Amino acid sequence: MAEIRIRNTNERIQGEENVRAFLENQEVLYEHWNTDKLPEELREKFILSDEEKAQILSVYDEDIRDLAGRRGYRTWDIIALSDATPNLDELLKKFESVHTHTEDEVRAITAGKGIFIIKGTDDVGYFDVELEAGDVISVPEHKAHFFTLMENRQIVAVRLFIETEGWIAHPYADPSFQK
Ligand SMILES: [Fe+2]
Repeated sequence: MAEIRIRNTNERIQGEENVRAFLENQEVLYEHWNTDKLPEELREKFILSDEEKAQILSVYDEDIRDLAGRRGYRTWDIIALSDATPNLDELLKKFESVHTHTEDEVRAITAGKGIFIIKGTDDVGYFDVELEAGDVISVPEHKAHFFTLMENRQIVAVRLFIETEGWIAHPYADPSFQK
């Protein structure tokens, strides 16, 4: 289940309802999908064939279509990252800078872990959202953030888009942000 860490105070927020309420206040959508649906062999697999990716999308088809219908997302795919990904370190370096998009950034984690660093309201400042399998997040358009892996360095996630072009990252220069 997702956990929040507020960077300025190191305060942690745990428990599905607390996390959901905190994120709702920050205009970030948080939901949870039932990972029991996924065949066991796909719950810890980070190098996926096209068939396995299609299988994951088909297992979660109802959840994907429900979310897409409510939020206007029109296309989706699967991203898998692990130490087997060519140039993972370079990729992560590229990821790890604050930016915005002109549409929501949506991730439904189906295996592994990941973390969103998000610029919250002025009273909160930056906060981390640590995500694991089953966690679904939508960071709204124009909200400054970045995404990266956690210490296990492996993740599989469904990404949903309105248009894939909307996913272009616009750098957000913020002297107040500290890694
Ligand atoms: Fe992003």
